[in-house]
Amino acid sequence: MQKILIKNIKGLVQHGENLPKIRKGAEMKELPILEDAFLALEDGIIVAYGKMSDWQGVTDWRDLEVIDAEGKFVLPAFCDSHTHTVFAKSREEEFVDRINGLSYEEIALKGGGILNSARKLAEMSEDELFANAFERIERLKSYGTGALEIKSGYGLSVDAELKMLRVIKRLKQECSIEIKATFLGAHAFPPEFKENHRGYIDLIINEMIPKIKEENLADYIDVFCERNYFSVEEMEEILQAGIAIGLKPKVHVNQFTSIGGVRKAVELNALSVDHLEELTDDDIDALKNSSTMPTILPSCSHFLSIPFGDARKLMDNDLPLALASDFNPGSTPSGNLSFVWSLACVKMKMTPEEALNALTINASFAMDLSDTHGTISLGKKTPIIITKKIPNLAYIPYSFGDQLVERILF
Ligand code: NIG
Ligand code: FE
Repeated sequence: MQKILIKNIKGLVQHGENLPKIRKGAEMKELPILEDAFLALEDGIIVAYGKMSDWQGVTDWRDLEVIDAEGKFVLPAFCDSHTHTVFAKSREEEFVDRINGLSYEEIALKGGGILNSARKLAEMSEDELFANAFERIERLKSYGTGALEIKSGYGLSVDAELKMLRVIKRLKQECSIEIKATFLGAHAFPPEFKENHRGYIDLIINEMIPKIKEENLADYIDVFCERNYFSVEEMEEILQAGIAIGLKPKVHVNQFTSIGGVRKAVELNALSVDHLEELTDDDIDALKNSSTMPTILPSCSHFLSIPFGDARKLMDNDLPLALASDFNPGSTPSGNLSFVWSLACVKMKMTPEEALNALTINASFAMDLSDTHGTISLGKKTPIIITKKIPNLAYIPYSFGDQLVERILF
């Protein structure tokens, strides 16, 4: 058995028993921190924690590795509930096009964007996609990400969507991190179906989804519900087909326009509605009394120079929210959640505590990992971040761009 004692912890963050599965509204300011603490792990399972003055005699401390965390904070690792970590190539040329004045939507209408990534992915082998994604995930882990959702959606054909999902399945097996797989065949209409939406939706429903069921390739189903992409009605039909094989909806809505996708997704019991750069009063009303987690992706707003989601409006309406990276080659080429934390504070006026709740407790809920991730609680096998020496927790979002995660324990 591997036993670890972390001692002299400056602050043990988000610890406790029977913590809520979500924090919403004013509760998002709550963040338990135990000063001068210890934490004991056996094979990664939390077996004890408390004040340093109380640690002796708590358990059998022979043959253990001792980590001295003096001046450092210990917190549950971040959960990244929305990523597109499997892709073929980066897209710097579109980045430069945008600097020169084109918008993300204009680039997409010219055949760039998601279709550009789909062309590149079609040519890449499963092994190469796997190797590239594996390396990316190692980097995300070093940034403090302890669980990760990954979407398909750069395939857009039966073969390529299945190829992506098989890569994600292999990543689940071979990366030492919890991964959830989301089927996003409805990410864009491929060129051959541009004028034949019915044809592509039939392909998703009649060919992709049955194969996904047969090979057990996904946990969730996603649709990009947006002007020029999938309408609310198209989204509903596709989500229903996913629900019929046991996939929970988790959707892209309101990135550029609010067209009613939030209300429909809530009606279909979506686990989360993600993006929300646009947010109307009707969207807020729809989210009230639901168990759908609103999820905001501030790095995407930063990179595309589009509005930041209105986190304060959600919290003022007693709603929760999660934060995620949206890591992908087009709109968010960074999966660094410390940067997300900083953007949430600087651009969305979330306090450091609110934003950390959104990256831990609420984000774990948004990927069905509340029982294992997001808090430091007895019996949990939660990945844990040990920070570098820092004066206080707010120092992490304050020093944006710095790497203050020293290590992550799984
Ligand atoms: O979440 N908006 C849809 N999908 C991705 C971007 C995909 C891409 O540009 O490659 C997103 O931002
Ligand atoms: Fe996305």
